[in-house]
Amino acid sequence: MTNIEHLNIVILAAGQGTRMKSSLPKVLHPLAGQALVQHVINASKKLSPEIINVVYGHGGEQVQQYINDPEINWVLQAEQLGTGHAVDQVKDQLKDNQLALILYGDVPLIKVETLTKLLDQAKDGFSLLTVSLDNPQGYGRIVRNSKGLVEKITEEKDASNDVKKIKEVNTGILAVKADLLKNWLGKLDNKNAQEEYYLTDVIAMAVKDGFTIETTQPNDEYEVLGVNNRLQLAELERYYQQEQANKLMAGGITLADPTRIEIRGELIHGQDISIDINTIFEGNVSIGNNVLIGANCIIKDSKIADDVVILPMSILDNTSVGKGSKVGPFARLRPGAVLSENTHIGNFVEIKKSFVGLGSKVNHLTYVGDSMVGKNVNIGAGTITCNYDGANKHQTVIEDNVFVGSATQLVAPVKIGKNATIGAGSTITTDVADDELAITRVKQKNIKGWKRPVKTKK
Ligand code: UD1
Ligand code: CA
Repeated sequence: MTNIEHLNIVILAAGQGTRMKSSLPKVLHPLAGQALVQHVINASKKLSPEIINVVYGHGGEQVQQYINDPEINWVLQAEQLGTGHAVDQVKDQLKDNQLALILYGDVPLIKVETLTKLLDQAKDGFSLLTVSLDNPQGYGRIVRNSKGLVEKITEEKDASNDVKKIKEVNTGILAVKADLLKNWLGKLDNKNAQEEYYLTDVIAMAVKDGFTIETTQPNDEYEVLGVNNRLQLAELERYYQQEQANKLMAGGITLADPTRIEIRGELIHGQDISIDINTIFEGNVSIGNNVLIGANCIIKDSKIADDVVILPMSILDNTSVGKGSKVGPFARLRPGAVLSENTHIGNFVEIKKSFVGLGSKVNHLTYVGDSMVGKNVNIGAGTITCNYDGANKHQTVIEDNVFVGSATQLVAPVKIGKNATIGAGSTITTDVADDELAITRVKQKNIKGWKRPVKTKK
């Protein structure tokens, strides 16, 4: 990471975000499943700062509640009077030995490597992150002197036609010694076209005080793009997802279509994994080696071991799938489903808060909840563990080598002993001992020559 000590990060997030047309504050809109400002906080933390300040305004309480992070120092900017005014709200937190880094809550894809470069350059005073844009419209322009040194930043609305032609623009992200910044902030005024206190005015002050403004550029323009509307949000999302897909492929994963996979969190993985289209990964997912994942799966906070096959349309949430297991199609593994090695979980099977032992099979149309299932158990189609009595949940225990016939209800709490057999269509309400056959079905009656009713004519 970086060797910058005494870092003070200020994240500006007080803007209203009116163009989102939303009751949700802009910085809480999700990108890859996380709030925009959370991405900025994540990058900030990787720099090991002494303090992270977030300047909030409109809907700020909602932002605080949602982010709910005791490491953040929340600072209210009651009225939005400009970026300089926003940073000024933090002035009591700016300590003499610190380096201040200004970030934006709505610029989510900034990279730690870029910030590290910027901070290294700022050690002698001041460093700006700039970018050259084919269409610089709307941005503050970087005005340089004949020697190529930065003189000032001029906002679009205050710019002459000549200045408007400059393509190098201010990203807004900058690093500056905190004591210097504090001093310059005190001298800002709002005598400009927008009657705002511009943070960018400190650049001219620094130059006047004899400082050289260093500049650096991000590797990619996307790092410094902000979100002002939902179109821009979608564009950044696509860029981010493409980057994730590229990383996965570089790491040994075959993607049927790199434009049809979503990573909303972190995916840790081995090699020789093949992922078909439209799968969504959420939270923290890990996948071992030699794994196949079919189309249209949703996999959240789960662990998938080596040699697993997840067939299409399966949903996994907080689960663990043991080596050599096969899941789906159309399987739903809910929180607490733990599958041992070589298990088979088939179509229209729901498993919740249950352990399924080595080699056991639950292949069709079944609900297993709050259960302990031993080794080599076979659970027939249409079996239901009736775990809920309307008030409380109860456990079902199915020991090794049990065979449960189809269309069975196991009314919990209930225990089925080793090697026991349950006849199809049974409703089991009391424990079954080892090696027993339990069957509750009504005896079959056959009536010879039965005539079905015929339709009467009217
Ligand atoms: C600002 C820069 C401009 C730069 C551009 C990059 C200034 C004066 N201008 O312009 O040089 O090219 O960003 O996108 O700094 N904010 C507050 N409180 C305020 C005002 C703004 O917290 O009172 C926050 C906003 O939430 C936003 C950020 O600061 O995250 C930038 O504000 P915005 O109004 O978008 O600045 P621009 O006019 O675009
Ligand atoms: Ca802006």
